[in-house]
Amino acid sequence: MIDFTDILKADKGQDARDIHVVDSNSFKDWLKDQSGRVRAMVEAQKFTGKAHEFAILSGDKVDEWSVLAGVSSEKALKSWCLAKVAENLPEGAYRLFEDVDAGDAMLGWLLAHYSFDRYKKSENQTGKRQLLVSSPSRIDAMLIEAEATALVRDLVNTPAEDMGPDQLEKTAKRLSKDYKAELSIIRGDDLEQGYPMIHAVGRAAKREHAPRLLELEWGNKRHPRVAIVGKGVCFDSGGLDIKSAVGMRLMKKDMGGAAHTLALAEIIMRANLPVRLHMLVPAVENAIAGNAFRPGDVIKSRVGHSVEIGNTDAEGRLVLGDALTKACEAEPELIIDFATLTGAARVALGPDLPAMFANNDDLANGLLEGGKAVHDTVWQMPLWDTYAEYLSSDIADIGNSGGGFGGSIQAALFLKKFVTGDAEWVHFDTFAWRPTARPGQTKGGEALGLRASWAYLQKRYGK
Ligand code: BES
Ligand code: MN
Ligand code: ZN
Repeated sequence: MIDFTDILKADKGQDARDIHVVDSNSFKDWLKDQSGRVRAMVEAQKFTGKAHEFAILSGDKVDEWSVLAGVSSEKALKSWCLAKVAENLPEGAYRLFEDVDAGDAMLGWLLAHYSFDRYKKSENQTGKRQLLVSSPSRIDAMLIEAEATALVRDLVNTPAEDMGPDQLEKTAKRLSKDYKAELSIIRGDDLEQGYPMIHAVGRAAKREHAPRLLELEWGNKRHPRVAIVGKGVCFDSGGLDIKSAVGMRLMKKDMGGAAHTLALAEIIMRANLPVRLHMLVPAVENAIAGNAFRPGDVIKSRVGHSVEIGNTDAEGRLVLGDALTKACEAEPELIIDFATLTGAARVALGPDLPAMFANNDDLANGLLEGGKAVHDTVWQMPLWDTYAEYLSSDIADIGNSGGGFGGSIQAALFLKKFVTGDAEWVHFDTFAWRPTARPGQTKGGEALGLRASWAYLQKRYGK
């Protein structure tokens, strides 16, 4: 894990280089006041004031230089406004000229230091770029979000061989130790009775990578109960309905929902949010073996519905279904689940926008707002009940796959059948992956919908 400490520091007048922040409007005025020499430097570096552009301006002394950085709006910096410049500057200390508040851009500055180099010979990496900030009270909150984001990225980027159910369990164990939470684990064939769908999906890998349900409880019992549930399919081969090579290539990331869940649980505990937290992660590998579950099989579920398997590759909804039912038994007031559940969500919204489904409009609106506020946008999709007919089965109460229409909606409607009682429930079908790098946002595993959820939870439960 990248060490983010000491990257953001309170500005006490330490030695540091200046960063002048401009946007495409203010740049013109700024330029008017500059000497011919500065103007020539700006022009030579093709700086035009657009977001993410930057230029180096030399001063009068030999080692004197400052930075000119373009942002989208000078008035209020957004999360990724300073990330590009932070990625590119050499080690050293910096401050925004004339006390401009780094604001939300502190996050991007931190995450500009993220890289996943567990398997790479260490290249000559740049040391820390320190940012001296005028609003140090926000440093801790930013650190929490950056570290949670890095945790998701690390967990998702790590190949399945090194990130199986065992390693997800290890992360849950670390959380239970660090925050004095209760962890209980049901493993292997012990799942068969109470969690038949988790068992069915995971049993083909039970010798090497035994399936399990990780369950963590934390907080004051008198506080409102909040459950967070995440799909932990450590590798999704598709099962007997095996995926194509292209379709399987990224399936180490199919525990992305679990990664979001572990990270959000850690944020909540670290910030000591006054909730009673219940975290549930079904951790399995969807493997192929002689004992694998088959298309056409009918399995029981914890809630009691019989489920006919139309496709063994629709495994996420199975493991989540039993976990959601378990979450509901404790009668939480709110359930949030994260899952890399369908390719259809990616087709509908692309990789940036998690598809959000909620059974309560205030909850949905709160999350949309939260996402906007922290530049982690989520997009609402409908729980369009009519489509539940696609999930009908000739011989069981419900089928697990129903053809090509509204695939992510179908998956969400499947989950809904396993949510009992009157909890508010929101489901994120998230991609957990960034196919191309952006400033502060590396290619590979990514947290999408995590900070939106945290923004919402803080607003709802924070002091
Ligand atoms: N893990 C996949 C969904 C997925 C695929 C997410 C690609 C992101 C990128 C899931 O288990 C799956 O295979 N879903 C199937 C469902 C279908 C068989 C009903 C899908 O989306 O094709
Ligand atoms: Mn699958
Ligand atoms: Zn899957």
